[in-house]
Amino acid sequence: MSPSRKNLISTAVAALALSTFATLPVQAQGQPALKVGLMLPATGTFAALGTAIENGFKLYVAEQGGKLGGREIQYFKVDDESDPSKATDNVNKLIKRDNVDVIVGTVHSGVALAMARAVKESNTLLIVPNAGADAITGPLCAPNIIRSSFSNWQPGYATGVIAAQKGYKKAMTITWGYAAGQETVKGFSEAFEKGGGKVIKDLSLPFPNVEFQALLTEIAAQKPDVVFAFFAGGGAVKFVKDYDAAGLKKSIPLMGSGFLTDGTLEAQGASAQGLLTSLHYADSLNTPRDNAFRNKYAVTYKAQPDVYAVQGYDAAQTLAAGLVAVKGDFKQRDAMVAAMRKMTVDSPRGKYTLSAAHNPVQDFYIREAKGRENVMTGIAVKVLPDPARGCKM
Ligand code: BEZ
Repeated sequence: MSPSRKNLISTAVAALALSTFATLPVQAQGQPALKVGLMLPATGTFAALGTAIENGFKLYVAEQGGKLGGREIQYFKVDDESDPSKATDNVNKLIKRDNVDVIVGTVHSGVALAMARAVKESNTLLIVPNAGADAITGPLCAPNIIRSSFSNWQPGYATGVIAAQKGYKKAMTITWGYAAGQETVKGFSEAFEKGGGKVIKDLSLPFPNVEFQALLTEIAAQKPDVVFAFFAGGGAVKFVKDYDAAGLKKSIPLMGSGFLTDGTLEAQGASAQGLLTSLHYADSLNTPRDNAFRNKYAVTYKAQPDVYAVQGYDAAQTLAAGLVAVKGDFKQRDAMVAAMRKMTVDSPRGKYTLSAAHNPVQDFYIREAKGRENVMTGIAVKVLPDPARGCKM
């Protein structure tokens, strides 16, 4: 063989080897890590809620050996501060700068609404592990948006059912004046008035304001049979303590969607004892699934889980179901979403399915605050779907 022909052949062999090598790592090492953007509050009144969601999500991933559908997970984090005015910029850090595959977030409804609009535009997969904004599974519903939590209407409605059943006739409501508060109150009023009650006045203050005194004075003057409140996190701690300190707890029963006392009982102390709420989780379900979750969470984080931890855990379960169905091939997004939509989530809260609008269809428990637990005393509404008003999908 002539030297020039020998050179040609060895160059060709080298080129082939190089091209094979270039494709080899993908086949040999499997697919690259899935990029998960966590957009949650790390500061402000909802900071503890964000931590619990992240803990729950990571606990489920750890239980699967650190992979979902065979994919390692790489996290990208943004503190959204529960600030809607920064929400579009914040979500775009994950979408455009970090180029994540999926976003998990957030807690605050106003922030989540901006996120939903952004992911509709970019077609990024979004799993909402708390924020209840009705529009997310209403007019803004989309194939790429799935919730592992609730719609604001749901816990409000369930609490209205209980309040009416207890025979209260005149209610006042109090909340922060943003989507979560307004929509939860709407759900409460719908069920309470259907059950024969009347809401005589709605009170509100801007989020995250906690100067409740003037509003408590008004409640004392109006003397309703019951007060319904939506507050959460640090704001819920302050409200429950102020309600008690104002002397109202003894005279006018206080009820709320379960966020009023979830993850807050230690800080609320005696002021929360005996409060009745409704939510899709309680601390004393005492099922094998919930007990196993609670034990693992307590051992891992040296803290007790709450509803937010459960929703984070279930966000990871939802993502896992999609990824397993496509063997980790995230490009098969339609097949992934179809698997997620059809799954029955084996949640610590109890099994639930997703509605056509991608919102959990789930039981709502009656809970009573006893010691450091929201103890389940019954079921307010079984398998409650969200009405998904305005969703066209
Ligand atoms: C919300 O903004 O949707 C929300 C915040 C905290 C607890 C529950 C709902």
